[in-house]
Amino acid sequence: MKKFIGIYSQKKILKLYSKHVNAPKVRTFKGFGFGVIPGEREGIRFKTLEGTKPGEPPLEIINCRSSGGVFNLGHHNPEIVQRLKDALDAGLDLGDHMLLSEWRALLGQKLAELMPPGITKTTFGVSGGEAIDTAIKFSFAYTKRNGCISAIGGYHGHTGLALATGDKDFKKPFHWNPPGFKQVPFGDIEAIKNAVDETTACVILETIPATGGVLIAPKGYFSAVRRVCDENDSLMIIDEVQAGLGRTGELWAIYGGLYPEEKVIPDFMVLGKGMSSGIYPLSTTSYKPEIERTVFREDPFIHISTTGGSDLGCAVAYKMLEIQSNPKFLKNVKEMGKLFGNGLREIADAFPELIKEARGRGLMWGVEFHSEMLGQLAMISIINEGVLQNYCGNKTDTLIIMPPLIVQKEDINEILLRIRKAIKSLKDLQSK
Ligand SMILES: Cc1ncc(COP(=O)(O)O)c(C=O)c1O
Repeated sequence: MKKFIGIYSQKKILKLYSKHVNAPKVRTFKGFGFGVIPGEREGIRFKTLEGTKPGEPPLEIINCRSSGGVFNLGHHNPEIVQRLKDALDAGLDLGDHMLLSEWRALLGQKLAELMPPGITKTTFGVSGGEAIDTAIKFSFAYTKRNGCISAIGGYHGHTGLALATGDKDFKKPFHWNPPGFKQVPFGDIEAIKNAVDETTACVILETIPATGGVLIAPKGYFSAVRRVCDENDSLMIIDEVQAGLGRTGELWAIYGGLYPEEKVIPDFMVLGKGMSSGIYPLSTTSYKPEIERTVFREDPFIHISTTGGSDLGCAVAYKMLEIQSNPKFLKNVKEMGKLFGNGLREIADAFPELIKEARGRGLMWGVEFHSEMLGQLAMISIINEGVLQNYCGNKTDTLIIMPPLIVQKEDINEILLRIRKAIKSLKDLQSK
């Protein structure tokens, strides 16, 4: 089979998807009025397979979802595609997780070079949830405790321990409520102080909760969390699956990206999504060496992942890190972020009856509407103008807008123009 895109009509794919993958998901997308199936994709844009109605031409969409950072480098970044081809041509494959690996060693070294000081060890996985599970599991082993404090509305994945940190709506259908997991309001240091005690193995937080509504903690919050963890001999896990890798204009949100003058060093830094560059999945749990000494001392095989840290994945991620840690690359994110943030704030000011606030850092922005209904209508209206974004799963009055980090000035201007037009149509509809 040579053809990979558009083998079948959209109608047939929706039917197959319903029959063999997930029928309620297809119904939901149909309910929104569009059946987004990505077809051709390149740079910051992709085309849908067909238009909204059968026979209509494909829609061209600017991807401002970026799948939460998977497409930080856009679709089909040529340097990344070449890297994967070269690695395949050179004979790399998954490797064997029981053996040692040249590429795991090289990527481990690169991460240690780039991480906040003192975080020098890395365990590899495939998905973000797996990497979060690893961090929580290791914190239990290190502290010999099983308490975990997370943020209400935070999201760390749908695997075992990651799921346990999340909101109850995700856990209830699966009868999943392990002991020791507690949630507190995000950004409230008193709540953390009251929750952390001698049973707490770890506090886990996203630096900028994405699913929770692109929340910006007050200055000093994360330094205070660090202090509370130290006072209680608990470990601090920072999830930068979405906010890391240059998204804020600094490589790490927790280390100067949220507030330039606040550089906090967690015990664990967890990465996923963007580690793949949208090409080859990989996630990482990086941590301080004393944690490695406790976890692996008695049995170096106590934690493994067959396809996590594959040779191919590591070779691709290494290249991505070279690109995204380059000061020139980060400067562009900062500049584009400033332009984008100012533009979104101008739109918020122009439509105060609809929009409550635009907030964010770098190229990670939340636009909060006055109601959940408005948030959802705005999402559809903006997609209809050709800009893909979505409302936050745990705060549906807020849209999360994350353009690929490779955007240029003319892209930002076009995105802002389309968003403004969509909000204006929503306003016109409201006033009818
Ligand atoms: C902040 C954050 N952490 C962890 C995860 C879990 O990643 P994955 O879906 O790769 O398991 C996600 C996924 O959306 C996320 O947004």
